Amino acid sequence: MNQESENKKKVVVSGIRSTGNLHLGNYFGALNKFVKLQDEYDCRYFIADLHALTTNPDPTQLHASVKDILAEYVAAGLDPEKNIIYVQSDIPEISELYLLMNMHVGIGELMRTASFKDKARKALGITSDSEEIEKEIIGNQTNNQRVNAGLLTYPTLMAVDILIHHADFVPVGKDQEQHLELTRRFARRFNSFYKTDYFGEPVNFNFGTAGALKVPGLDGSGKMGKSEGNCIYLIDDEKTLRKKVMRAVTDEGPKEPNQTPTQPVENLFTLMELVSEPEVVKHYRDSYADCSIRYGDMKKQLAEDMLKVTLPIRQRILDIKDNDEYLSKMVKNGAERAREHASKTLREVREIMGIRKI
Ligand code: TRP
Repeated sequence: MNQESENKKKVVVSGIRSTGNLHLGNYFGALNKFVKLQDEYDCRYFIADLHALTTNPDPTQLHASVKDILAEYVAAGLDPEKNIIYVQSDIPEISELYLLMNMHVGIGELMRTASFKDKARKALGITSDSEEIEKEIIGNQTNNQRVNAGLLTYPTLMAVDILIHHADFVPVGKDQEQHLELTRRFARRFNSFYKTDYFGEPVNFNFGTAGALKVPGLDGSGKMGKSEGNCIYLIDDEKTLRKKVMRAVTDEGPKEPNQTPTQPVENLFTLMELVSEPEVVKHYRDSYADCSIRYGDMKKQLAEDMLKVTLPIRQRILDIKDNDEYLSKMVKNGAERAREHASKTLREVREIMGIRKI
């Protein structure tokens, strides 16, 4: 190995779809992991605005969301000097490679992807299996716009996001594992079709047990998510945040000593474990166990500790959010650096596929 390749840092790629402000789930699930990697790896983080288009957002809102998330990336600690930070749609090479890659992707495997089936089911208002989805999509003339081709080819675009950088690691949550698996499959298929070893096989970044943690929402059910309306946003002001936490779903209180907490209460403990000191969590766990807990006190404490995380970030968001000059300089620089890598890959892929100048 020569000096240069020895010093070469491994490449990390990840992105967040621009569908609204970032919340604590994004922060603990993605952003603060991105920050942890920025010193040791060659990181490229982007805003997936093309992916956001799959759900046909309002144009004004899409644009605002891209700007918000850019500011939120930086406010949460991502350094535009250390990382390449860019907007997906600023890299036209991604769109072209997406077209080329689609020639090696099967409609069937896309239709079998869990995220597609979920979204198609929701759009069609059905709960049943693949067969029904297929029948509805192919047979029903009025469904033309409800399940668009962009939604189907979402995994192709995501694979291209990753492969265009020859990424080694892709820090993503569990819900994205299948997309990563498809990325590796498309890479292998490309390699074997063209008898090359051009693409490597990227893997998730293993953060150990902390990485597997799901951030629950405040509604007592599943994970924190924009579409669930159960979020604490990084941009929430003090009053809003406190109000949301005080209204979080709980139960009537423990019925007997040492019982297992119900889901809504366990969710609050999980959130507490993310933001509070271990002694504080222990205090409330103990008081739950001996039935002396008062949820009002626990929530007050939880809100207090959440604010310690979010308020400094909120302040930084407000400082840069409307600084158009700063933001546009940053994305321009990010796009330039990302395009250097992307255009090299695209040039090489075109060559491999036989698209050559005459
Ligand atoms: N699909 C991802 C999500 O919804 C976002 C995403 C798009 C992504 N392209 C990516 C993540 C490439 C990692 C790498 O969370």
